[in-house]
Amino acid sequence: MAVIAVFNQKGGVGKTTTTVNLTAGLARMEMRPIAIDLDPQAHLTLTFGVAPVTGETSISAFFREDIPLPALLREFVSGVRVIPAHMELSKVEALQSRSATAARKLKMGLDESIGKEGVPILIDCCPTLGVLSLNALLAADRVLVPVSADFLSMQSVNKLDLALKALEGPLNRKIEKRIVLTRFDARRKLSFEIYDKLKARYGEQLCETRIVENVALAASPTEAKDVFAYAPSSPGARDYAALTLELKNQGFFS
Ligand SMILES: Nc1ncnc2c1ncn2[C@@H]1O[C@H](COP(=O)(O)OP(=O)(O)OP(=O)(O)O)[C@@H](O)[C@H]1O
Ligand SMILES: [Mg+2]
Repeated sequence: MAVIAVFNQKGGVGKTTTTVNLTAGLARMEMRPIAIDLDPQAHLTLTFGVAPVTGETSISAFFREDIPLPALLREFVSGVRVIPAHMELSKVEALQSRSATAARKLKMGLDESIGKEGVPILIDCCPTLGVLSLNALLAADRVLVPVSADFLSMQSVNKLDLALKALEGPLNRKIEKRIVLTRFDARRKLSFEIYDKLKARYGEQLCETRIVENVALAASPTEAKDVFAYAPSSPGARDYAALTLELKNQGFFS
């Protein structure tokens, strides 16, 4: 099973919302997924309601004190497993060098522990390409890129392609990626224009499923729930169920 980095340097495009609800979707299929929060903002941790979390019981302990990843896993009755983040993780971003060893730490940690479990592992990245995101991208078999249906998000797509291309050299392989359009508003012509542009640019790499702009997706974190638990018959739940299935059927998590 694959390690998936959910990445886009642009902020607020739906990385965390996508990681949370894909993880929840996979848990509903009894695939025992693991979500790793690799963002000092800890939004994924908050959305799943992981508490209490300290520097010592979060992913920063792996980076700063070599605590093994399995010791940091939290398990929920839903079948979701999470390695939480804490704002201390920002120190890792600030203090760690960008050396090849520092950037490969997560890959090594996964390879010798939970990476062997044969379950999907999803990593929620922060909106910068520093040492944390480098760790995610170097550990990942594949990258999922949420792009929100607005003008500025579309502008950042070039930067994203360049960043991923630059990594392919040191990695010595192509980075397999899929793009998913989020916050799609069918009342706006712009949403359709952006979909068409992404389709022309990425072809089969663009997911067929579009994630609609939906209040249930924005509100579910307020109750520390994924969208399936919060509003199972909402358009947001429908779309994330469809996205989980689409990617699973294409072997994206295998
Ligand atoms: N499809 C959607 N419909 C409505 N609201 C959404 C949708 N997707 C995301 N949101 C809301 O938009 C905001 C940004 O989403 P999210 O936190 O998932 O983005 P992000 O890319 O993880 O941001 P960051 O770069 O800060 O980590 C959140 O408040 C979220 O609830
Ligand atoms: Mg986020």
